[in-house]
Amino acid sequence: MIKKYVYGNPFSTEAAVENIIPSEDSIPYFEADGQGNFTLTLAENDIVYGLGEQIRGINKRGWEYVNWNYDNPNHHEDARSLYGSHNFIIISGAETFGAFFDYPGKMTFDIGYTKRSEMHIHAESSDIAVYIITGEDEKDIVKQFRKLIGRSYIPPMWAFGYGQSRWGYKDEKDIRNAAEGYRAAGIPLDSIYLDIDYMENYKDFTVDNKRFPDLKKLTAEMKADGIHLVPIIDAGVKIEEGYDVYEEGVSNNYFCKNAEGGDFVGAVWPGKVHFPDFLNPAAREWFGKKYEVLTSIGIDGFWNDMNEPAIFYTEDRLADTLSEIEKLASGNMGIDEYFRFTGMVAGLNGNIGDYDKFYHNINGEMVNHSTVHNLYGMNMTRSAFEALEKIEPEKRTLFFSRSSYIGAHRYGGIWQGDNKSWWSHILQSMQQLPALNMAGFLFTGSDTGGFGCDTTEDLVLRWLQYSLFTPLFRNHAAEGTRDQELYRFSTVQAMGEMIKIRYSLIPYLYSEFLKAALNNEMMFRPLSFDFPNDEDSLNTDDQLLLGNELMIAPVYKQNAKGRCVYLPEEMMMVRMRKHDDFDTEILPRGHHYVRAELEELVFFIRSKKMIPVCKPANSTDKIDWNSITYLGYADCTYTLYKDNGISPNPEDSLEITELR
Ligand code: NOJ
Repeated sequence: MIKKYVYGNPFSTEAAVENIIPSEDSIPYFEADGQGNFTLTLAENDIVYGLGEQIRGINKRGWEYVNWNYDNPNHHEDARSLYGSHNFIIISGAETFGAFFDYPGKMTFDIGYTKRSEMHIHAESSDIAVYIITGEDEKDIVKQFRKLIGRSYIPPMWAFGYGQSRWGYKDEKDIRNAAEGYRAAGIPLDSIYLDIDYMENYKDFTVDNKRFPDLKKLTAEMKADGIHLVPIIDAGVKIEEGYDVYEEGVSNNYFCKNAEGGDFVGAVWPGKVHFPDFLNPAAREWFGKKYEVLTSIGIDGFWNDMNEPAIFYTEDRLADTLSEIEKLASGNMGIDEYFRFTGMVAGLNGNIGDYDKFYHNINGEMVNHSTVHNLYGMNMTRSAFEALEKIEPEKRTLFFSRSSYIGAHRYGGIWQGDNKSWWSHILQSMQQLPALNMAGFLFTGSDTGGFGCDTTEDLVLRWLQYSLFTPLFRNHAAEGTRDQELYRFSTVQAMGEMIKIRYSLIPYLYSEFLKAALNNEMMFRPLSFDFPNDEDSLNTDDQLLLGNELMIAPVYKQNAKGRCVYLPEEMMMVRMRKHDDFDTEILPRGHHYVRAELEELVFFIRSKKMIPVCKPANSTDKIDWNSITYLGYADCTYTLYKDNGISPNPEDSLEITELR
């Protein structure tokens, strides 16, 4: 059952798609003061699940999280905010219930941080809607919540293939080299991503004709080889006379305004930019139509970036900072002045004060950005999704975004942002998955191999062994870091085998994804969701259940030749070197130390279950679905969901087959 409690006059975020009549009663479980504060006493054994993309463990207890969409390239243990705000939690214990705090501004979740046994939730204003969801168990609560917020985005099937990305591919040659490197190594590949360098001076919806003389031809040639090119689109629009997007935005008042009514100026990759007012329906429609510049030449996927929005600096703050620095420089810079100086310079990027300085035009009313900040990225992806529904009505377009709010899951996926080539970030990504699924984000994954810092060969291999299970499976790295394409490494052979295993699992992964999307379920779940009465499952946060048949327990420590795995029931362990070279062993319920050499993938099939596997192919369109065989226990069945992988409405071509 879902009950809604309304305080003041909340902004309509459009996160929920069902209209629930607000309750007259006072909110249960929490103490609410009507000023945006909600307090709850946590019992010693209560677990708090949720908060979507937030860092730390699957159980969110013991930290303070600030839901404020933020371009944070440091996903350290002490980070408080990342790119998305997903204010949905489940408190699980003596009393189990879900709570969604539908509020578009900054929110703080102190979950046993100030005091272990207390949870304090704070919204910056008193205008907030809260939904309380009760049900049979965690899975039922999630299902009801997901119905409330609408069906998750389903990408085209090709988006389940492996993708190669790099910030630093400068021209057509770099793209061709990447494609050639993979083909020469015999490694399947479905997509290559175009980062900001394909644009002319980082201007959205332009192509640098010197470096990419014929993107249409390149796109067609790549596609003929099964590879989709996926360009990036950034939120900020370069200020430049004669640039159509800039000029149209200015003349139609489609950009966010400053307090004086002028177009607000921030700076990102192109230098000074204006920010499209994605909360204004007319501006949203206008920007969305621009994607046609690229779809008309054969592009069928996009990633939307810098849409928190990220702001490197604003004109005003930069001017103030420079004049302060001038004053400081004219005196003797003592230690206090030195720290003021470095603080001011570091404080230019993503300064929270800058978000108070611009406004959205929402139905004629000027709304301060900070009060609706967390909705910006979601509405950028919405703008693209809704436009493409009209431009290419017969097919799905791939979209994923960096920034999001609950509701964005209907328009695209998200990637987990700028992680690092750190071992701990395999685990971090894995721990984000269930909470993202709870919030509706099914099409997600991490930058495989790590984005920032230099990677290592063994890290890439282990990372592949984890992310070959995630719907979004993309290798991406930052400019200036070590080359990370698989064919650069001496273990390319073993890496290629992991990619082939991924392709052999696509029938299963795609089927489980469709089930999760169509039935409002989680593709990735903590063990405790399926084994709620099992103490050791409650404590396990480095293994996940995948669909109804698998459990994954990746190795995420350097030089480890295995790991401890907890089996909440008897399972079949599969140790795979190649898709067709593996052995299996039935292990009893309990704790095990499981060996896994660097080049071996180990995963588990749940008791009396089996999964479909196919022959790998060079790209998803070449998968032979008639080659399906089964892996797992004998004498059981599997329900396969399959559609044509491209129609916007999967139901139009959905086949549900009982396989045995
Ligand atoms: C930030 C994004 O998170 C990253 O993936 C991208 O490579 C850079 N922007 C450059 O576009």
